[in-house]
Amino acid sequence: MTTSHVPDSTFPAGTEGLPACRPSQIVALADGDVYELRIGPVTNQLGDSRVRMLAYNGSIPGPTLRVRQGSEISVRVRNEGDHEATVHWHGLRLDNAYDGVPDQTQAPIPVSGEFTYRLRFPDDGLYWYHPHVMSAAQVGFGLYGALLVEDPADPVAVADQAVMVLSDIGLDGKGGFESPDSGGSTGMAFGREGNHLLVNGRENPRLVARAGAPQRWRLVNAAKSRFFQVELEGQPFTRIGGDGGLLEYPVPLEAIVLAPGERADVIVAPKGAPGSELVLRAYPFNRGFGSVEYRTVEDLLTVAIAQGAPFTGAIPPPVRRTIDATSTDGATRVAIDFTIAQQSNGEFEYGINGVPFAKNHSVSAKPGETQVWTITNKTKWSHPFHLHGFFFQVLDEKGGPVHPLEWKDTVNVPLEQTVRLVVRYDDRPGNWMFHCHVLDHADGGLMGMVDVGVPHADHKH
Ligand code: C2O
Ligand code: CU
Repeated sequence: MTTSHVPDSTFPAGTEGLPACRPSQIVALADGDVYELRIGPVTNQLGDSRVRMLAYNGSIPGPTLRVRQGSEISVRVRNEGDHEATVHWHGLRLDNAYDGVPDQTQAPIPVSGEFTYRLRFPDDGLYWYHPHVMSAAQVGFGLYGALLVEDPADPVAVADQAVMVLSDIGLDGKGGFESPDSGGSTGMAFGREGNHLLVNGRENPRLVARAGAPQRWRLVNAAKSRFFQVELEGQPFTRIGGDGGLLEYPVPLEAIVLAPGERADVIVAPKGAPGSELVLRAYPFNRGFGSVEYRTVEDLLTVAIAQGAPFTGAIPPPVRRTIDATSTDGATRVAIDFTIAQQSNGEFEYGINGVPFAKNHSVSAKPGETQVWTITNKTKWSHPFHLHGFFFQVLDEKGGPVHPLEWKDTVNVPLEQTVRLVVRYDDRPGNWMFHCHVLDHADGGLMGMVDVGVPHADHKH
């Protein structure tokens, strides 16, 4: 196991590997390793205030775990915080027992307790980890980290790479956090956003780039409610991958849009005069009622163009991947409505088909079964739908595959719209959760379960 502590986000130009704007810790883990992950309080300097936050191994974001596709590791999690916890490994196709959902897949880890997760990595891509107990509060306090699964035969010929964990934090301006229940049930219905934007735990960090040199950025939106829509002063991005690895073929982009929980893998070759700066800016994104009014554009990251001759090397060839469209023949149909209702006491409650999580029924499935889900959002806010443990493919209105094909575990269901997707359950029975990844909404009732049972042929008589 190698740990590299990187004190600063600025790196000399031309550094190869994961260069600028690193998370503060990158930990490379090999097959069979046991890694210790500690949840505990940490005091950080943010602007003028010293703030008590929650961290994994003292770092926000938590260490970026770097593993090889096909390897297996164990992570021993010790809870030194002051509340029960779990760790959910967002996007991994792992065994249900290690999915980190309290009372469904494990008992919550008590204060001073521990739990060992066994992880395997059948798919390359950028994943992430976070708690699943009081998620909105705990993620908001700093508990999130990235997990990079690398294919030893990765076809992307780009030397300069960065992992960027996008998040936000809500500070009250007096050295503390905004209360995780500020605004009561109306705050919950909207989804509370932080008021400071962070890249790898820092406000507006600098990334040094060689003029015109291609860089590979792998981004995850780890914010509890905020959608990110980012642009680099009009310079083009090429999106090559998403949640579950590379796309069928690359697509050009002007802005990267990430709902909470989603990932993007992009190539960008920042152009500019040596010594100049470019700013990656976050633009207000319309995720529903109240989300763009009085909002401003905010600086997220500064790209400093290094002195020296512009890059003249080869532009990497487009990367493609063969992905089979999942057949919908014989698929079971599942219809889900995202709903919101005001209770007699005036409080808002989200639900699936009008029923909040605590009272709803699971969707039943069998290993090997294919399901087509039609998800209709009947509310005035957008909801990023996340399914644990399995990838899906998004379908168009007619039920056909959307190209480029890609494996997703999180997809935005825009306000008052419908999204269709197809999922094939492989042989990992158990209770798998689905929910909105605006974590206030999940806590407010927008969660459900898929019960993937034992196939009939396997029943013991
Ligand atoms: Cu990031 Cu239940 O998930
Ligand atoms: Cu939502």
